[in-house]
Order: sequence, then C-alpha cells, then structure tokens
Amino acid sequence: MTQTEDKTTPSTGDTPLVPMEKIVSLSKRRGFVYPNSEIYGGVSGIYDFGPLGVEMRNNIRRYWWWSMVQINDNVVGIEGNIITHPRVWEASGHVENFVDRLVECKNCKRRWRVDHLPEENLEQNKCPACGGELTEPRTFNLMMETYIGVVEGERMKTYLRGEASQNIYLDYDNVLKSSRMQIPFGICQIGKAFRNEVTPGNFLFRQREFEQWDLQFFVHPSEMQKWFDYWKARRFEWYKGIINHTDRLRFRAHGPDELAHYAKQAFDIEYRTILDWQEWEGIHWRQDWDLSRHSQFSGQDLSYTDPETKERYIPWIVETSGGVDRTFLFLLLDAYEEESPSDKDKEGRSVLRLHPWFAPVKVAVLPLQKNKEELVTTARDIHKRLQRLMVSQYDDVANIGRRYRRQDEIGTPFCVTVDFQTLEDQTVTVRERDGMTQIRLHMNELPAYLVEKVTWM
Ligand code: GAP
Repeated sequence: MTQTEDKTTPSTGDTPLVPMEKIVSLSKRRGFVYPNSEIYGGVSGIYDFGPLGVEMRNNIRRYWWWSMVQINDNVVGIEGNIITHPRVWEASGHVENFVDRLVECKNCKRRWRVDHLPEENLEQNKCPACGGELTEPRTFNLMMETYIGVVEGERMKTYLRGEASQNIYLDYDNVLKSSRMQIPFGICQIGKAFRNEVTPGNFLFRQREFEQWDLQFFVHPSEMQKWFDYWKARRFEWYKGIINHTDRLRFRAHGPDELAHYAKQAFDIEYRTILDWQEWEGIHWRQDWDLSRHSQFSGQDLSYTDPETKERYIPWIVETSGGVDRTFLFLLLDAYEEESPSDKDKEGRSVLRLHPWFAPVKVAVLPLQKNKEELVTTARDIHKRLQRLMVSQYDDVANIGRRYRRQDEIGTPFCVTVDFQTLEDQTVTVRERDGMTQIRLHMNELPAYLVEKVTWM
C-alpha cells in the first residue's frame, strides 16, 4: 500500500492555541456550523452544517475514503443503515455495557460523570461547581431508543446505532461472499452514530448525533500484533499529514479501567486544544469479540476457512475509529490564526490556514473594479470555467483588500484578480493565501495550475 500524504501548507511555527469561542463564532458568522433548531432554542449536542461547512465535510470524507478505501487493494467500503435489528445491540454488549455512571449535585442540580470528577471531589463527595453534596452514582445507558412499525403493541423497540462499526460485522459475511477478499482484509464505512451523551459539549467535540469513520481489519490471530502496529502507525501519519501543528498530536494508551467492553487494548490519537489533550481517533484491539458474539447471538457461524490451509477460525479485528466532526473541529482549531498588521498586510487579518484539499472554497475570482464591464465579464467567464473543476466564488463587492480578507477568513487558498493588464495580455494575478505572494499566469494555464494545487489525486 502506498499513499501520497505530503502536506503542501507550510508549518506556521509556534502559534497560540485557539479559544473555542473564536471557532464557534466564525462557524456561525461565515456559514460553517449552526446550532440545530435554533429558532426553538436549540438542542444540546446537535448541530447543522451551513454552506461552507457542508463543502468542507464532503472534502474531509472524500479524502478519508480515497486514502482508506480507493488506494488500498485489500480494503473495500460499505454503507450500512442507522437502524438494525435490536438483537445487534445485545450481541454487541451495548445494551448492557454502554453506560455512564453519574452523580447529581443536590444543591445546583448539575450532573457529573463519575469518571470525569476530580479525585478530591470524588473523595469528599462535593460538587466541583458549588461545593454541594453529591447523590449516589446512578447508571445511564447512552443508546438512543426508537420504534419500528405503526401498530401499538406490535411495534419493535430498537436503537439508533451507538457505533457505526456494527454494520461492518453484520455485513462481513456478505462482503466475503460477494467480493474476492481474503483475510487479511478490511471494510470501511463512514456513517452517523447516536449517543445520549449526558454531558455533551465543547461545540462539535461531544455531540449526540455525529459521524464516524471506521476501518475494521480482519486478520488471523497470529498476525494481530503486526496489523495492530501497522494501522496504529499509519493512522497517526495520516493525521500528521493534514495539520499544520504536528506537535499537537500524540498517542495515549488506555488504562485497564477505561477500556471499552469490546477492547483488549486501545490507543487514542489525541489533539491538543486550549482545553487539554482530546481524543481524535481510537485504535482498538477488538480481537474476536464482535464476530464471536454475533455468531453466538444470531446462530450463524461467522468463522473463516483459509482457502489454502483449510484452517477454520474466527477472525480477529483491528479497529481504527475516528470522527468526521472532530476532524472538522480540530482542523479549524489547527488552521485558525489572527495576524497583526505587517508590511504585507497593513490591517492585519484572520486566516484559516486549511490544507487546500479541505478548504470549502478553492478559488475566488475577483474583478479589480465592478464598474468596468470588461473586467466583470472576463472575471465571470473565468469563474464559470473554474466552477466545472472546483468550488469557485465570484466576488465584486468592496475593495480588493477587503475581498482578500474575506476569503482568507474562510481558508480560500487562491484568489484570482482580473485587472486592466488582463484585458491586454490575458494574464491574471494569482494570490496565495498563506504567504500572500502573487504571480501572474495566462488565464489558459489557470485551470491546470489550480487543479494541481487543490486536489490530492
Ligand atoms: N467503534 C468504536 C467507537 O465507537 P469511540 O472511541 O467511542 O469508539 C470513535 O468513538 C470516534 O468517534 C472518537 O474517536 C471520536 O472521533 C468520535 N466520537 C465518539 N463520540 C463522539 C461524540 N459524542 N461526538 C462527536 N464525536 C464522537
């Protein structure tokens, strides 16, 4: 397996960690993320994505899919549904084990996860916010319930999936029979998951509806360590390849008391935010938990027979499970910078130094003046040509400096300016976001130049 994971956005040195409020405000103001059902007061832990947000999410998903599925001969993809048979969640262990233990403050009524309480508060049974007395811990299941069917009494209670990966185990046998995959091989999926998180928060970090990306890699037990190490290293490199501040990335091993019920070993890839180190993706040693349990609960034998040796065994599983939403959030936090006024930019600016691959708008086409018809017509023509290849924006409102800053703030890597020289020799100015450097190019060279810079394939 080979992969192009080079990053063309330059490192920006030691820039300060970004307060979450800046990203929340930018996201709403410029159309990345909106609170869901805002006109009704919103729903905690649920968000919608605006015009720029949806473009960026699509770019993130597409890059993951390309690098995990399309360029690997031993990995295929599926798209499973959010609703499954309820027995799935008994077999998976989620009905029994997917719980948070909570205490409530008798005074201010705030709820706290026992495993998130500072040790001092736990020992003294005191609320971290007001010092009030805490209740005995109670157990809450995180699975979201729903019902299939319309006839009262015949409706079947099931769950919105609590982790997207279950579809992969359910479809594993069908994939094996309908494709030419042999162990070792992997199945990938991107899809929504739902959790009744007791303490949603930190903007997109902990939501109740979110999107996961999973690789489940099926191996012979004797090769588990080799493939676990392989995917662990590869996923770390993947994240390193998409951020500017690689010093904000690390691994953290799970202690025995925090391992999920399905994992024998786990490592988190974490990103450092202003709040702390936070989980971005989990690499889990799921062993034979999933296929054994589904064999047992469904009565279908999910063991594998090696076509050459005829050995029969339940495959073991390496899981890499991350989130589209956390990637979205951490990319924004990683890319955002406020620059003071300088020789290059007298006013200073906010800039999103996003990798061009993920930037929602790839190029903005700007006529130098909007009252000169020839400039406007030429700029519109260029914009129309570029739109066939990438997301392009046409903008003729305000002076050119303000238009550049508008694009810098949303991470547009290139601005193309059509000026009076364009009308004479068909060249345009191409301004690059990070260094604010400018070159002149013939307009016929523009499409190939930009495509090479903004796509990964
Ligand atoms: N199948 C394994 C699994 O679900 P997890 O560590 O619970 O493992 C995997 O979740 C990833 O899903 C996390 O690393 C994170 O990126 C994302 N994730 C989990 N809970 C989330 C939530 N409440 N909001 C947003 N993303 C979440």
